[in-house]
Amino acid sequence: MNQDSPSPGEPDRGTSLDLDEPAPDEVPRDRASDDLSDVSRETAAVTDSDVSRETTSALDIDAPDRERDVGTPIAREAAQAIHVLNVRQEHWPRPPKTRVLTVANQKGGVGKTTSAVNIAAALALHGQRVLLIDLDPQGNASTALGIEHGVGTPSIYDVLLGGRPVAEVAHTTDFAPLLQCVPATLDLAGADIELTSQVAREYRLQRALETYLEQAGDQLDYVLIDCPPSLGLLTLNALVAAREVLLPIQCEYYALEGLAQLLKTVELVTSHLNPQLEVTTVLLTMYDSRTRLADQVADEVRRHFGELVLAPRIPRNVRVSEAPGFGQTVITYDPGSRGAIGYLDAARELADRGAGSSVHAAEGSGHE
Ligand SMILES: Nc1ncnc2c1ncn2[C@@H]1O[C@H](COP(=O)(O)OP(=O)(O)O)[C@@H](O)[C@H]1O
Ligand SMILES: [Mg+2]
Repeated sequence: MNQDSPSPGEPDRGTSLDLDEPAPDEVPRDRASDDLSDVSRETAAVTDSDVSRETTSALDIDAPDRERDVGTPIAREAAQAIHVLNVRQEHWPRPPKTRVLTVANQKGGVGKTTSAVNIAAALALHGQRVLLIDLDPQGNASTALGIEHGVGTPSIYDVLLGGRPVAEVAHTTDFAPLLQCVPATLDLAGADIELTSQVAREYRLQRALETYLEQAGDQLDYVLIDCPPSLGLLTLNALVAAREVLLPIQCEYYALEGLAQLLKTVELVTSHLNPQLEVTTVLLTMYDSRTRLADQVADEVRRHFGELVLAPRIPRNVRVSEAPGFGQTVITYDPGSRGAIGYLDAARELADRGAGSSVHAAEGSGHE
């Protein structure tokens, strides 16, 4: 099959998916972020009035794929600034019990790490106490949160294979005092094999986390576990340690391929190792409103997962991919960017859906 020259009826994968270019109507973000604080200050004066709320809804800012259709660049920036400001002032509900979510999809490059770090940051910047466990030897989540993770740094490897307490290897991030991260180092690269010979090899993370949560009492609201792109023992440990699976799906060709295997693994874990585990949340990532393909994938995912799919889609946005290079999340790197707004909205909905089974929570959310 020649993938480079689609027939006229087919979506053009070759060109329409070259998506790192900013959308034609996208505001150059350098200026946007510089101006954001000024716009924020100006809009701060009116945030308590109905004016800002009306402005926000009139501009339909909550619809991520339509938010660019609102007039001049300045109007768009003002609308974004108001949105950011409103979101910042919001008080997000804390769950009654610590929620442990594993961010899993055995495909690489679908937005697991990006979603884990940005949702963690968004939650922590809204009063939630969050622990992010980096379980990928690449240590990308640690990088994005600016946490040291050179070989030999005390890390999740020491927890899984050295019996070290989680509390000893968790670091507070510089930008959010409520966000802690357990880093992953390259030491973890051999862990899948090293774990094989260990006693209770699937339960090592669960036990370590349980001990940590007992000590932390009600202090912690969320634990997010960023998985490697495989279904090996590391991912298995993450699935056994969690109650919820957060499944990021890239709005791309082949997005659903391989999902059956992941869902089968979740089912096996549920029936044999961790009966409490459930896929509770699906997040559409790297959505590009300019491609028909993105909509087709999104529709397909919604047909399959229904109310589990968070309403906000994360747009493909170059600021999201730039942020880790600066040891930052996009939420702090460029809070007014479409990527940051997408993740803030997604995290807010995740928090709104509350604790426990989001199937129940989603029934009441009215989003789908
Ligand atoms: N919304 C987005 N817009 C642009 N680039 C993104 C977005 N989400 C993720 N990326 C980029 O895509 C790549 C893969 O994302 P990542 O989160 O590392 O995936 P995974 O953890 O599933 O392997 C990274 O380079 C990341 O910066
Ligand atoms: Mg990753």
